Amino acid sequence: MFLLEFTAFAFLLCVFPAKATPIPDARALVSRQFNASDMYANWPTYEQLPLHPSFPTKAAWGVWGSDDELGALNHITPETIKAALAEVQEGIAINLNLDLDVPHPPLVPSRTPMVHTFLAQEGYQDDILTINTQISTQFDGLRHFPYSTNADVSTYQFYNDLITFDEIFSAEGITTLGIQNAANKGIAGRGVLLDWAGWMESRNESFDALGARNITVDDLDAVAEWQGMNPNSTSSGPGFTRPGDFLIIRTGFGKQYAALPKHEQMIVPFRENSTIIGVETSDKTLAWIWEKKLALVGADNFSFEAFPTVRRVQDGRGLHEVFISGWGQNIVELLDLEKLAETCHRLSRFTFFFTIQVLNVGGGVASPPNAMAIL
Ligand SMILES: *[C@@H]1O[C@H](CO)[C@@H](O)[C@H](O)[C@H]1NC(C)=O
Ligand SMILES: *[C@@H]1O[C@H](CO)[C@@H](O)[C@H](O)[C@H]1NC(C)=O
Ligand SMILES: *[C@@H]1O[C@H](CO)[C@@H](O)[C@H](O)[C@H]1NC(C)=O
Ligand SMILES: *[C@@H]1O[C@H](CO)[C@@H](O)[C@H](O)[C@H]1NC(C)=O
Ligand SMILES: *[C@@H]1O[C@H](CO)[C@@H](O)[C@H](O)[C@H]1NC(C)=O
Ligand SMILES: *[C@@H]1O[C@H](CO)[C@@H](O)[C@H](O)[C@H]1NC(C)=O
Repeated sequence: MFLLEFTAFAFLLCVFPAKATPIPDARALVSRQFNASDMYANWPTYEQLPLHPSFPTKAAWGVWGSDDELGALNHITPETIKAALAEVQEGIAINLNLDLDVPHPPLVPSRTPMVHTFLAQEGYQDDILTINTQISTQFDGLRHFPYSTNADVSTYQFYNDLITFDEIFSAEGITTLGIQNAANKGIAGRGVLLDWAGWMESRNESFDALGARNITVDDLDAVAEWQGMNPNSTSSGPGFTRPGDFLIIRTGFGKQYAALPKHEQMIVPFRENSTIIGVETSDKTLAWIWEKKLALVGADNFSFEAFPTVRRVQDGRGLHEVFISGWGQNIVELLDLEKLAETCHRLSRFTFFFTIQVLNVGGGVASPPNAMAIL
C-alpha cells in the first residue's frame, strides 16, 4: 500500500515539467494530501524536495498541508511523547538555559543586553524584563529568518508562503507563523545529545570553537558510535534517532566562551570577520537531518550552522533559511549543555526526556526556550 502510493507520488513529481513557470499563488498548489492519521504516507525524500519547482530551494512547503504553521513540530505525537517517558529513569532534571543576561554583551552588537529593573510596590515587589529574544538561549520561531535570494526584502519568503515581510510589522495584529503556535503545540519528547566536543577531547584533538570550523555529519555519526549508539540504519530502525526526536549538539562553544576572562567575552562580538564553530552547511547535512524526521535541532553555539553563514546549498542558501522558512524547523541556540553532557557521560546514556515551553506571545518571532532535560 505504502509502496504503491509512494510510486504514484514519485510519478506525479516526474510529470511536473522541470522548469515550470512559477505560479502566482504557491498556496493553491500541490500540497501532498497530508493525512493526519497516517503522517508519513507519501513522505518525500530529501531529493524530492521541494514538492513544486516554484517553491524555494529544498522547501518542505505543502508537506504538512499548504496552510500548516507548525512544520517539523508536527513530528511530535502522543506516541512519541509517551515513548519518551521511558527515558526518565534517575529522576534527574537539568536546566538547559543560560542566565538570560549571558552572553554579555550579546554576540551581535546591534542586540542590546537585557534590562532588568525592580519595582517596589506597597507590600510586594515586581521586576521588569526588557529583552531581545536573540541574546541568550533562544528558540527561533518561523518569523525569524526568511528565504532570500539576494538579501533584497522584495524576495523574502516565509514558511508555506503564509505571510509577507510587511505583515510581521503590521499594526493589524496579524499573528500568522508567530511563536504562539509553538507555545500551544506542547513541545515534549525524546532528546538525543551528540557530544562532539567531548568526542574531540577523547581523541586529544584540540579545536577552537571561536574559529571557523565545520562539524560534518560524518563527524556526528562517529560521535554517535563513540557514545555507544548505532548511527547506521538497520532493519529495526533508522539509526540512533526516532521520528519526533530533538537533536542537540555540543560544539564546545558554550564551555570555551564561559571560560574566557570577562574582557575577552567583551571583545567576542566585535571581532573582525567573526567566526564560530558550527554544523557544516551542505546538502549532505540537510539530507541527513531531513531523513531523521526531527522535531527540532539545537546546539550550544550561536547559530547551529558554522558562522559566518555560508550560502552553499544549491542556489545560495544557508541552513537557517532551509530549516526555518523551508521546513518550519525551529532551531534552539546557545543551550547550556555542560551539566547535561557530564550527566550523560556518567550514566553512559545520551537520550533523555526533553521539554521546551516558549513564551506565549501572539506573533512573536523567538523566545527563551525554557528547555529542560529529565533523565
Ligand atoms: C488516512 O490514513 C488512514 C490510516 O492509514 C486511512 O484509513 C485513511 O483512509 C486515510 N485517509 C485518506 C483521505 O487517504
Ligand atoms: C590522549 O592523551 C592521554 C594523555 O596523554 C592518553 O592517555 C590517551 O591515550 C590519549 N588518547 C588518544 C585517543 O590518543
Ligand atoms: C566550512 O564549510 C564551508 C562550506 O561548506 C566552506 O566554505 C568553508 O571554507 C569551510 N570552513 C572551514 C574552516 O573548513
Ligand atoms: C556503521 O557503518 C559503518 C560503515 O559501513 C561501519 O564502519 C560501522 O562499523 C557501522 N557501525 C555499527 C555500530 O554497526
Ligand atoms: C577581514 O576580511 C576582509 C575581506 O575578506 C579582509 O580584507 C581582512 O583582511 C580581514 N580581516 C582580518 C582581521 O582577518
Ligand atoms: C553550531 O553547532 C552546529 C552543530 O555542531 C554546527 O553545525 C553549526 O555550524 C554551529 N554554528 C555556529 C555558529 O557555530
